Amino acid sequence: MMRSTWWKDAVIYQVYPKSFKDTNNDGIGDLKGIQEKLPYLKELGIDAIWISPVYLSPQIDNGYDIADYYQIDPMFGSNEDMDDLIAAAHAQEIKIIMDFVANHTSDQCVWFQESRKSKDNPYSDFYMWKDAGPNREVPNNWGSSFGGPAWTWDESRQQYYLHYYAKEQPDLNWENPKVRETIYEMMHYWKKKGIDGWRMDVITSISKDLDFPDNEIPFAKNNQHNGPRMHEFIHEMNQRVLTPLDMMSVGEAPAAKASNAHLLVDPKREELDMVFTFEHMHIDRKKGDVNGRWALQAPDIVALKNIMSEWQENLRDRGWNALYFANHDRARIVSRWGNDREYHYESATAYATILHGQQGTPYVYQGEEIGMTNPKFELEEYVDIELRGNYEHFVEDQQTISKKDFLDAVHKVSRDNARTPMQWNNKKNAGFSEADPWFKVNPDYTEINVEKDLTSEKSIFRYYQKLIALRHQEEILKEGTYRLLLPEHPAIFAYERQLDEQKWLVVANLSEYTHDVAELFDDVQVYRFVIQNKERETVTDALRPYESFIIQVVE
Ligand code: GLC
Ligand code: CA
Repeated sequence: MMRSTWWKDAVIYQVYPKSFKDTNNDGIGDLKGIQEKLPYLKELGIDAIWISPVYLSPQIDNGYDIADYYQIDPMFGSNEDMDDLIAAAHAQEIKIIMDFVANHTSDQCVWFQESRKSKDNPYSDFYMWKDAGPNREVPNNWGSSFGGPAWTWDESRQQYYLHYYAKEQPDLNWENPKVRETIYEMMHYWKKKGIDGWRMDVITSISKDLDFPDNEIPFAKNNQHNGPRMHEFIHEMNQRVLTPLDMMSVGEAPAAKASNAHLLVDPKREELDMVFTFEHMHIDRKKGDVNGRWALQAPDIVALKNIMSEWQENLRDRGWNALYFANHDRARIVSRWGNDREYHYESATAYATILHGQQGTPYVYQGEEIGMTNPKFELEEYVDIELRGNYEHFVEDQQTISKKDFLDAVHKVSRDNARTPMQWNNKKNAGFSEADPWFKVNPDYTEINVEKDLTSEKSIFRYYQKLIALRHQEEILKEGTYRLLLPEHPAIFAYERQLDEQKWLVVANLSEYTHDVAELFDDVQVYRFVIQNKERETVTDALRPYESFIIQVVE
């Protein structure tokens, strides 16, 4: 069966609904808020919205703990509001992608409530249950991503259940065909509602190694990915749902490597359309450190170039890249790897140029298009379960990192950096809500907000708008080959795209220093600027801090 590939020409915008726009003034963003902002998104030029989970949920992990897959949580609105949003988006030719969280559910989900009751009811085998050791030890040493063991004892069933994330997020048992059927049914339901695709939460974790081998580091966050039946399960889902219903899919794939990602996204294999890799997001992490993702170093730009180029090359003709620097789990790139003070506009647009110049589908995360920054809150002001759990694990229990160093790392990379309310204007609560928001607004909203950016001479929004328009107009961005230039240069990210006779050069200085890279243009006589974040006379002048541009080489 033929599948449509609209997503290859698309730019996708991620909405984190809790923090996007509150319309009924309860301090929480809602579906009506997304609908209200459709014209804004249309102006930006995006083609589809991926909405983080809005299903009924106790919100232990901000909706990534689903209690009922068929109900919109009242905090976000009603099922009718979702119908309205889908219709309104479609009327403006914007597609809707929902978040598919099916590695685990909430412990409040009726399936789990039934499952924990006994070993012989229709839901008994919906989750990963295991007996305790003779002294009630956990079945093995797997750790939860949010700190502590990945197993929790259940009194009523007298067994342990597995959870890769919070104890309120029990992992589903995909070995059970009934689990898979139940999930496919749910997918059919949302397709009937009109949605166009899925972003699949930790989809590479759905198959578990049933030997449950111990991990090297006890109780560290080293979840098992890419289990023995992963490809089989994903292929089945593709054949049962994605292909027959013609739905787009992008899977979160934390352990996928450039060398093996094609196994998930090669169209011939009929699994997924795209995956989100993690590799390029780890270039500021000290490898193998006991403090895991909180052990930071300066971003290694050479590594960034190598990793991204590897993905470009490896998926060419056997897959399709999902391009991103930002999402609800990632800190703001302008604060993390750029300079959110002196070079706010320049560094935001430099990273955007590098990303949107590549082959694949670019993803823009809410607020990225105006260069929203990481706030520097006090520890007590953060709310994310991962941050809190990891604080307990690393600072309090294990004592391998001091509170101060942990907080420094939080300011750089914690997930909450991306979750502050969207900054619409410089009025109360940044125009997000009349009421106190569920999570503190970044105090820089008086300086950084949509209203101000749109009228600024250095508008990050306008720059994104232009990049997105180029994506729609220029075949070379979609189909052109990719070649990395100056691979060893520690600060300049430059590459060439080529389609037939047409040649483009994408160039960015990802540092605060000036660099002379005239050698890049030795063979260039005639050219035109496609886009640039600073006015410049000639292409050969040295690149100023975070300066970036794309040129078309005419001769
Ligand atoms: C994914 C989500 C993240 C969530 C986790 C558990 O990584 O993006 O926000 O906490 O899965 O669902
Ligand atoms: Ca609300």
